Amino acid sequence: MTTLKGRDILGIGDLSVAEMAEVLELGAQLKSGERSPHCKKVLGLLFYKASTRTRVSFSVAMYQLGGQVIDLNPSVTQVGRGEPITDTARVLDRYLDILAVRTFKQSDLETFANYADIPIINALSDLEHPCQILADFMTIQECFGQVSGITATYLGDGNNVAHSLILGGALMGMKIRVATPKTYQPDPMIIEKAKQLAVEGFEIIVTDDPIAAVEGSQVLYTDVWASMGQEDLAESRIPIFEPYQVNDNLLSHADKDAIVLHCLPAHRGEEITDGVIEGKQSKVWDQAENRMHAQKALMVSLLGVV
Ligand code: CP
Ligand code: NVA
Repeated sequence: MTTLKGRDILGIGDLSVAEMAEVLELGAQLKSGERSPHCKKVLGLLFYKASTRTRVSFSVAMYQLGGQVIDLNPSVTQVGRGEPITDTARVLDRYLDILAVRTFKQSDLETFANYADIPIINALSDLEHPCQILADFMTIQECFGQVSGITATYLGDGNNVAHSLILGGALMGMKIRVATPKTYQPDPMIIEKAKQLAVEGFEIIVTDDPIAAVEGSQVLYTDVWASMGQEDLAESRIPIFEPYQVNDNLLSHADKDAIVLHCLPAHRGEEITDGVIEGKQSKVWDQAENRMHAQKALMVSLLGVV
C-alpha cells in the first residue's frame, strides 16, 4: 500500500483516484480489525467552528492508534486573539505531527499548508468537507459493494458537502445529481474541476427539479439548508428549500433499495423528516461511525504508519 506521507488534504481532489480507493480500503480494514497500526503521534485540532462528529471521531481515532490529541480551540489559544496563521502554523509545525483545521476560508487552510510541513487536513471549510465524503463513500461501499457507477442525488444547498460529493464522485466514476433552488447551485468552479478530475463513468446533472433528480437514484443525500456562519439566513431559506426536503414522497421516487445519507447535524422537519431519518433506509448512524474509520485511515496514510 502506498502512503500519502507528508501530504496535505485540503480538498477531496488532493487524492488521486487510486489513493482514494486505497484510503477507503484501508478504512474498511481498520474497521474490521484486519489491520491495527500503532503510532505515538500527536494530532492538533484547530476548529474555528463547532463540531461534534469531526472532533470526537478524529480524537478517538488518534487515541486508538496510540497517539495523543491536543484541542487548540481558538478560545483558549492565541489564534483567537489574532495571532497570524503564518506564525501559528510555523510554531505548531515544530510540536505536532499532524493538524486538522476547521475554518471558514479555504485560503486559510492553504496558508496553514504553506507555512507548516506537517500534514494539514481540511476538517471542513466553506468550500469543502473532504473527510465527510470519505466516510460517505465507505458507507456506500458497505451498502452496495461498490462506489463507482452508483447514482447519488444530493438535495438542498449547493454547499461544502455538495462540493466534496461532486469532486469525490468524479474520482469514483459516480453518477451525481444535484437538486437545489436555482440560486443555490454548487460553485461552477467545482463542477469544472470535477470534469477535469473525472474518471470514466462520471456524470453530473445540476437541476432545480428534486423529483426528476431523485428518480431511480440509489443514494439520497442532504445537509442543512443554512451552514455554519449562515445562521441569520436560516429562517428566510425555509420556504425556498421546502421542495427539496427528503421525505417519504421524495424517497418513493428513488430506487426501492435506496439509502439515505445526511452528514449531520440534521434539522428534522426542514431538510429531512423525522420519519425518513429514523426509517429503515437511513444509514446516517453507520455514516457517522465511518467518520472515525475513514479519518483513521487518512491519518495513518498521511503519517506513513500504515
Ligand atoms: N458532519 C460533521 O462534520 O459533523 P460535526 O460538525 O459535528 O463535526
Ligand atoms: N454544511 C454544513 C455541514 C456541517 C457538518 C456546515 O458547513 O455547517
